[in-house]
Amino acid sequence: MAKIYAIGVGPGDPELLTRKAERILREVPVICAPTANPADSSYALSIVEPLLDRDRQEVIVQVFPMRKDQEGLAEFWEEAAAEVVERVRGGKDVAFITIGDPFLYSTFLYLYRIFREGYPDIPVEVVPGISSINAAAVAAGVPLGMASERIAIIPAAFEDGSLKRTLEEFDTVVLMKVSRVFDGIYGLLQELGLENKAVYVSRVGSPEEEVVFDLASLVGQKLDYLSLLIVKK
Ligand SMILES: C[S@@+](CC[C@H](N)C(=O)[O-])C[C@H]1O[C@@H](n2cnc3c(N)ncnc32)[C@H](O)[C@@H]1O
Repeated sequence: MAKIYAIGVGPGDPELLTRKAERILREVPVICAPTANPADSSYALSIVEPLLDRDRQEVIVQVFPMRKDQEGLAEFWEEAAAEVVERVRGGKDVAFITIGDPFLYSTFLYLYRIFREGYPDIPVEVVPGISSINAAAVAAGVPLGMASERIAIIPAAFEDGSLKRTLEEFDTVVLMKVSRVFDGIYGLLQELGLENKAVYVSRVGSPEEEVVFDLASLVGQKLDYLSLLIVKK
């Protein structure tokens, strides 16, 4: 029976794809790639595009709008899942690609729930990827954790007021989805005297990669969604 693959394609550098991801992406007849906006290309797709053969492989770009309030999003997930299932029922393996690792805050996880609950007979294989966290830590030269150090990973856009405590309790705090809430977080870092203990990394692994230690220079700027902060005491 045909199957679904969820492929982590890493954070941006095609050389950070696993050998398994590359093999499957060259083999499968159908590749699904997410984008948040129909007008934008898929970042995940741009990473793997050089591996694909458009004459032999079907590439479907699927829209997954991004917003904090998730109302109305289920229909996009259902539609995307149905497109995948249609191909699989027709005997074709489908690879759904996702930035970084599929099990870390990825778009794929919404589909995964639908596949598991609605189509339990369809096999799903998840291929891990190098997450943006790992690549950003290396790009910034900031080790995530050593010996007994404790690490927290926070989706900052959904922060509910407990960030101060998290910053106080953990040795390393990785803040993902920071772009829209950066100014507030910078204020909190200042309050805790941590503004010089943090680094901002955007588009790691891509030609547009940026590593910024001077966080003050980012205040008031429109920041890239593909960015994160690592706070290391
Ligand atoms: C929906 S999550 C996806 C995380 C992804 N599954 C991973 O393993 O890295 C999106 C967030 O991941 C981070 N991110 C993803 N790709 C990135 C990149 N190339 N550079 C910096 N941060 C990135 C950003 O914090 C972004 O807001």
